[in-house]
Amino acid sequence: MKIIEVNNYQEMSQKAAEYIIDKVCHFPRITLGLATGGTPIGTYKNIIEDHKKNGTSYQNVTTFNLDEYIGLSPENKNSYRYFMNEQLFNHIDINKKNTHVPHGNVEDYQKECTRFEELISKHGGIDLQILGIGSNGHIGFNEPGTSFTSTTHIVNLAPSTIKANARYFNRLEDVPTKAITMGISTIMKSKEIILLVSGENKSEALSKLLSAGVQESFPASVLKNHPYVTIIADKAAVAGLKVHCK
Ligand code: PGA
Repeated sequence: MKIIEVNNYQEMSQKAAEYIIDKVCHFPRITLGLATGGTPIGTYKNIIEDHKKNGTSYQNVTTFNLDEYIGLSPENKNSYRYFMNEQLFNHIDINKKNTHVPHGNVEDYQKECTRFEELISKHGGIDLQILGIGSNGHIGFNEPGTSFTSTTHIVNLAPSTIKANARYFNRLEDVPTKAITMGISTIMKSKEIILLVSGENKSEALSKLLSAGVQESFPASVLKNHPYVTIIADKAAVAGLKVHCK
């Protein structure tokens, strides 16, 4: 794992965006794995700005998102499909048909898991996956204890995840308790991974990731088994690491 330390959230976002843009320029048919949450918003902003300024094209790019809440329709403002449209897809020239977010409001969830997993395989897998990390070490919505062999599946969200995500909802009770997520093995099949870590509230998770062994009780630790992972972390996230290592 390579770790790049940057000064702050803005620099992290800029670095990640530059990396993605460079890949898209060199490989216009690239398949990107995308994340939601507060962490990648700045990266998407930079991608949009570059698209407007320099005309980087996403016409032939395919994307797969990590996860979606169960029970939310794509029109629901808290759904991850809505988030992606608002934060990125509506502002670049990507063909929406090539953007894939798991469907959170279907009748047969098992079928949806299989469909999503197969779709990724059919596209030849993910070339570059962008990840955030939960303070409990989750990647995607793979909460602690998820099997490393898991493929796309339905999860019960951890209480800490529900609490962390409640900031986007009117009430804690409105946060869905289940989600569909790419599995750990789905994520690990990506050819390359960028993990974005920003802020003091993620420093403990980063510290644990770097110091702990590879174990299912801390899902992100599996990334140590991947040959091409780059962590872009800001000073606030890294500061805790130094304290922890003393
Ligand atoms: P955040 O979430 O980017 O909103 O901090 C990351 C995650 O939970 O994976």
